[in-house]
Amino acid sequence: MNITVVGTGYVGLVTGACIAEMGNTVYCVDVNRDKIENLKKGILPIYEPELDTIVVENHAAGRLQFTTSLKEAMAETDVYFIAVGTPPGEDGSADLRYVLDVAREIGSLMERPSVVINKSTVPVGTADKVRDTVRQQLEARGVDIEFDVVSNPEFLKEGAAVDDFMHPDRIIVGTDSARARQIMDELYAPFIRNHPRMMFMGVRDAEMTKYAANAMLATKISFMNEVASLCERLGVDVENVRLGIGSDQRIGFHFIYAGCGYGGSCFPKDVKALISIAHQNDFEPKLLQAVEARNDLQKHSLFNKVSAHFSGDLEGRTIAVWGLAFKPGTDDMREAPSVVLINSLINAGAKVRAFDPVAHETAPREFPEEWFTEKKLEIVDGQYEAAIDADALVLVTEWKPFRRPDFKALKKLLRTPVIVDGRNQYDPAQTQRAGFHYYGIGRMPTHAAI
Ligand SMILES: NC(=O)c1ccc[n+]([C@@H]2O[C@H](COP(=O)([O-])OP(=O)(O)OC[C@H]3O[C@@H](n4cnc5c(N)ncnc54)[C@H](O)[C@@H]3O)[C@@H](O)[C@H]2O)c1
Repeated sequence: MNITVVGTGYVGLVTGACIAEMGNTVYCVDVNRDKIENLKKGILPIYEPELDTIVVENHAAGRLQFTTSLKEAMAETDVYFIAVGTPPGEDGSADLRYVLDVAREIGSLMERPSVVINKSTVPVGTADKVRDTVRQQLEARGVDIEFDVVSNPEFLKEGAAVDDFMHPDRIIVGTDSARARQIMDELYAPFIRNHPRMMFMGVRDAEMTKYAANAMLATKISFMNEVASLCERLGVDVENVRLGIGSDQRIGFHFIYAGCGYGGSCFPKDVKALISIAHQNDFEPKLLQAVEARNDLQKHSLFNKVSAHFSGDLEGRTIAVWGLAFKPGTDDMREAPSVVLINSLINAGAKVRAFDPVAHETAPREFPEEWFTEKKLEIVDGQYEAAIDADALVLVTEWKPFRRPDFKALKKLLRTPVIVDGRNQYDPAQTQRAGFHYYGIGRMPTHAAI
């Protein structure tokens, strides 16, 4: 098949590359000229495990093309994915500007019967808006061309995006068109050969499924963070509670780790968007509001712990930060808890020395330039370098090399042996025996199982 993917971000580039890997010819289109020129040279705009090899190999084989011209791509294809961003507007609702821009352009260029597949995360009813927008353009041109609009939300996880796309848990397709259904079946068949996992449903059902999935995962995280805060006040170790409840098959272990809050480009924006959708429909989404409020508080928990240890006096102190990306496996800094922590530390007069295995290029964009020139914030090349003469170490992102560090070396490097563990990676009792002041999220050293 010949396919166009519009938007070459985390979703579009992974989608295009994986579909090309199965032998299709894919045109990846983006308005960002630099991105496209770099991709042609094999330079990727994002870090994602395994993606570079697939992109470079398929581009070299001629199956994966990069262009800024949708017209050029549409001359060769009649199946289009929309995979552009849907950032939150000022009121929290999903901003559909980019999706509808693409729909407008498709309508102005369409020459043959086509399928428009929306992969961006969008509110219920967006497929209707896309259809109306394309149709208006066709009418303005005085042409009548048959086309379908399909909802095909994406569930990949950054950090494991290629693997998720290649081996999906399920593929949700919202359509009422037999022709579109056949194309989607054909397109996804290579990915689900041994596990047929296509789920066809109404277009609006598919749109809602994506929001419900992300809201559910965010709810699990916020629930556990709330339990952890209560544990801290009750002298309970949340890790024991986690193990105790996760073993119940109805609950399970996924997404019940207490931590410093969820970030990234999806959960925060999608929970906000769902709250906004509810308000637009005269409904008060009390649970979703609480999920969001808990997460906002949770992102401040690391700063509060550091500040409490030093009795609120952070002026002139240096704090080492391990991990900047919003989660391991990605360089994505959008809504990362590290941003809230670093802002609070520097505003309180501290200096920050941070290390992240891959986000060292994306991180500087999140902070004022003068913080770097004035040496308030340094991003260093090694995890132990960050700890030299620091007054405390804060673990924010649980990259694998941070999980079992050399505590002896750390103790020597730190000026004062303080660890704030934002991901509950270390054993409180062991860390204390090694001579550290240890602060986790809802952790109690004396209650560790014997
Ligand atoms: N990132 C994720 O993990 C993830 C997972 C599932 C779903 N989603 C959803 O997928 C969508 C895309 O997310 P992303 O993280 O890939 O976004 P992104 O910001 O990484 O990429 C979007 C790309 O679209 C391009 N673009 C914008 N307008 C364009 C236009 N008119 N024509 C061509 N290109 C255009 C931008 O230049 C950018 O490169 C969002 O709705 C998001 O919620 C994201």
